[in-house]
Amino acid sequence: MNQCEEQGEIVRQEQLAPEIFRLTLKAPQIASNARPGQFVMVQTTPCYDPLLRRPLSIHQTIGNEQVQLLYKVAGKGTRILAALPPGQKLNLTGPLGHGFDLAGKQAICLVGGGMGIAPLYFLAREILRATTPPKCIVLLGARTTSELGSLPRDFMDIGATETHIATDDGSLGHHGFVAELLPQHLGPGHQWTVCTCGPHPMMKGVVSQCRAQGWECQVSLETMMACGISACLGCAIPRADLSGPYLHVCKDGPVFKAEEVAWL
Ligand SMILES: Cc1cc2nc3c(=O)[nH]c(=O)nc-3n(C[C@H](O)[C@H](O)[C@H](O)COP(=O)(O)OP(=O)(O)OC[C@H]3O[C@@H](n4cnc5c(N)ncnc54)[C@H](O)[C@@H]3O)c2cc1C
Ligand code: FES
Repeated sequence: MNQCEEQGEIVRQEQLAPEIFRLTLKAPQIASNARPGQFVMVQTTPCYDPLLRRPLSIHQTIGNEQVQLLYKVAGKGTRILAALPPGQKLNLTGPLGHGFDLAGKQAICLVGGGMGIAPLYFLAREILRATTPPKCIVLLGARTTSELGSLPRDFMDIGATETHIATDDGSLGHHGFVAELLPQHLGPGHQWTVCTCGPHPMMKGVVSQCRAQGWECQVSLETMMACGISACLGCAIPRADLSGPYLHVCKDGPVFKAEEVAWL
């Protein structure tokens, strides 16, 4: 395990949409060890309010030096984060958890909704960087176009030419939910692996389609997290057969095989 506590330095803070920010930090120890699907716990303030670190997925690493996070302002911690300027130091723990498993996959579909898109960019880059990359389809969903910011272009720029969009309000791409795009884009003749991250109902829809079609599915789950390092047991989720002991998203995940967890 290569996780560490590191004092990152903010290189860039970009506002991509009204409440969406992309933060680039110099954090070489974390950058050089991170895998797609892993996350960091961010201490948003050195004071005691908020006391707890906030979990954020690694959006990408840049070389072995920088870590990028993509986040939406949800409450106090992320609001404080959004106001921090370049040069500011930020304490991070990471990289944490288990990432996606790409070994031996021939055709991969990434399905991201909202901020669940954050870890999928790192994953797409890793997939497309291979000498002979597997077939890769990217499906991105958001409530409206502005929530996507530059993400569709960012995916295209790294070679994800089969990137398709769905918006709840129909302002871009398919008018409806991103999971509805699966049947039309995942044709026969491939053994598909679907990797998904986003709101729970969206992932539940993706998982049920994968089950019906016999596609392998990996899910990146989000729960409330107090410690991120398997100490508080606050991120417990039930196993698929509801037998104990519970799984812990910070240690056993955040990426799981869909069939490992209960979809209640
Ligand atoms: C492994 C993991 C990776 C994540 N990656 C990202 C990411 O890349 N980008 C991103 O924008 N967000 C991500 N999140 C969610 C992010 O951690 C929360 O939005 C953040 O902690 C909210 O903190 P806050 O202080 O701003 O809001 P708070 O004041 O703590 O809460 C505001 C609202 O957000 C909800 N919330 C708080 N924590 C979480 C949580 N952990 N998961 C879901 N909802 C929460 C609360 O219920 C409340 O409704 C991730 C969560 C996990 C567990
Ligand atoms: S967040 Fe504390 S055990 Fe997982």
